[in-house]
Amino acid sequence: MPVQNSSPTIWCRRLILPGVIVLLVTAVVVVVVLAVINPEQKTTTGTLRWKGKGTTPNLKEVILGRCYNYITIVNPELSSKDCHNIWMRLLSAFMYKHPCSMREEDYYPLMNMARHSIPCNKSLFWSKTNNLVHRYTKANHDFITLEDTLLGYIADDITWCGSSDLGINYNSCPKRNECESNPSSMYWKMASKMFAEAACGTVQVMLNGSIDNGAFRNDSIFGSVEILNLNPDKVSAVQVWLMHDIEGPQSESCTGQSIQMLKSILENRKINVTCKENYRPVQLLQCASNPNHATCRLCPYVTQ
Ligand SMILES: *[C@@H]1O[C@H](CO)[C@@H](O)[C@H](O)[C@H]1NC(C)=O
Ligand SMILES: *[C@@H]1O[C@H](CO)[C@@H](O)[C@H](O)[C@H]1NC(C)=O
Ligand SMILES: *[C@@H]1O[C@H](CO)[C@@H](O)[C@H](O)[C@H]1NC(C)=O
Ligand SMILES: *[C@@H]1O[C@H](CO)[C@@H](O)[C@H](O)[C@H]1NC(C)=O
Repeated sequence: MPVQNSSPTIWCRRLILPGVIVLLVTAVVVVVVLAVINPEQKTTTGTLRWKGKGTTPNLKEVILGRCYNYITIVNPELSSKDCHNIWMRLLSAFMYKHPCSMREEDYYPLMNMARHSIPCNKSLFWSKTNNLVHRYTKANHDFITLEDTLLGYIADDITWCGSSDLGINYNSCPKRNECESNPSSMYWKMASKMFAEAACGTVQVMLNGSIDNGAFRNDSIFGSVEILNLNPDKVSAVQVWLMHDIEGPQSESCTGQSIQMLKSILENRKINVTCKENYRPVQLLQCASNPNHATCRLCPYVTQ
């Protein structure tokens, strides 16, 4: 007699193998369907994942602390500004929103609450000279950059963005090349526009003459937002300070191509332009960290 082949082991194998296959196939189908329905990458909590840094930890405390410091110590003339409301308006501009869907209007309430005037002849714009220009405005209170205004001061170097389920995304936020209408890019664009609109008299711009592809770039914030929002009825002239790194290279001079492009854009808007290479008061700051260089000697053209 043949051995009965209904021993428990074989019986189990017959059932388990097809069972496993069915489970595997189901799992694959579910994953594929989910991926098709929902192509955006999500973390386990369901929050979108982006390439940029996430919202700065303790955002509320950082913004409130900076705001109170600004209106108390940095610029006491603004002591009547309401920091708590400024924070609430920033928060409601982006919280629970998809971080690629920011509109200019989202920031209007905040911008209107935080805006303040800037004395004539004091506005200092910059592009690609972030470090040097702020060392200069810290040392010399005759000039004000965007980062020295309330809106610039509270937001400098920090990040924030929303998440439709958790409210705030602390893990990651979109970079500019992922989407342009992200909360930070939109904020800086609007704050820069307001800063330019507020300028009057002679305004300054510090550009970097040591970079390869031109000191002035029309796709920078300065080139694409700020110069277009200067009011020719209020701004009489723009003075360029073209700074070279002490150790060089001197990639562009005041007669260089990109400076000529800047001149023609501004002159078309009826704003005069002058250009100074290595404006000495700024150069002296560069010299503080490079005192023995020839350009930093008291009499630069005398060799010892
Ligand atoms: C701004 O500078 C111009 C000349 O550079 C001068 O005539 C004007 O009085 C200055 N305005 C203020 C408010 O200092
Ligand atoms: C010019 O740009 C280069 C490269 O970003 C930077 O290392 C340098 O410090 C800048 N120079 C000035 C004067 O800001
Ligand atoms: C910016 O400059 C480039 C040339 O360098 C030019 O082709 C382009 O049209 C300019 N863009 C704008 C918005 O003016
Ligand atoms: C602008 O430049 C023109 C010609 O160089 C000059 O006549 C005019 O007075 C200047 N305007 C201002 C406001 O400096």
